[in-house]
Amino acid sequence: MIEYRHNLEGITDDALSGFFVGWPSPPSVSKFREILEKSYAVVLAWDSERSEVIGFATAISDRVFAAFMPLLEVKAEYQKRGIGSELVRRIESQLGGMYSIDIVCDPELESFYSRLGYVSLCGQAKRFRSGYANTTFT
Ligand SMILES: CC(C)(COP(=O)(O)OP(=O)(O)OC[C@H]1O[C@@H](n2cnc3c(N)ncnc32)[C@H](O)[C@@H]1OP(=O)(O)O)[C@@H](O)C(=O)NCCC(=O)NCCS
Repeated sequence: MIEYRHNLEGITDDALSGFFVGWPSPPSVSKFREILEKSYAVVLAWDSERSEVIGFATAISDRVFAAFMPLLEVKAEYQKRGIGSELVRRIESQLGGMYSIDIVCDPELESFYSRLGYVSLCGQAKRFRSGYANTTFT
């Protein structure tokens, strides 16, 4: 059964592994845990039979006006069952009445987000794909 959770209580590093598929420099599990702990809002999709996190979404925010969703992922074997959409809906409800919630996505995901009410805007982004700032994803 899939449950949705908002904290990491009792979740081991093993149960958090298997994400960031295809990333050139994925964060380690301990860095992933830190990302989840320090985000403004987090939703985890939890397979209670396998005791495993199978999807997650994060949001960062000024806590008043604007939020950004940097990460959303559902493990391949659980995709196309509505879990990704549910993670977005649940993180939106955690964010409450903010003016803006922004995401950046590849063009093929535009239809996924437009069904959830998102519109395409022009934007610019910089990515430090071989690590970030002064340190690496260790
Ligand atoms: C994007 C992602 C989170 C969607 O999760 P999911 O659980 O499969 O989403 P849902 O089941 O709610 O999908 C809803 C709809 O979007 C479509 N969809 C999902 N992923 C898609 C993709 N990669 N490309 C095109 N359409 C997609 C599904 O086909 C589904 O449509 P349907 O109801 O007509 O079948 C998942 O594909 C994923 O983790 N991808 C890899 C990481 C990624 O790209 N994250 C997004 C960063 S912006």
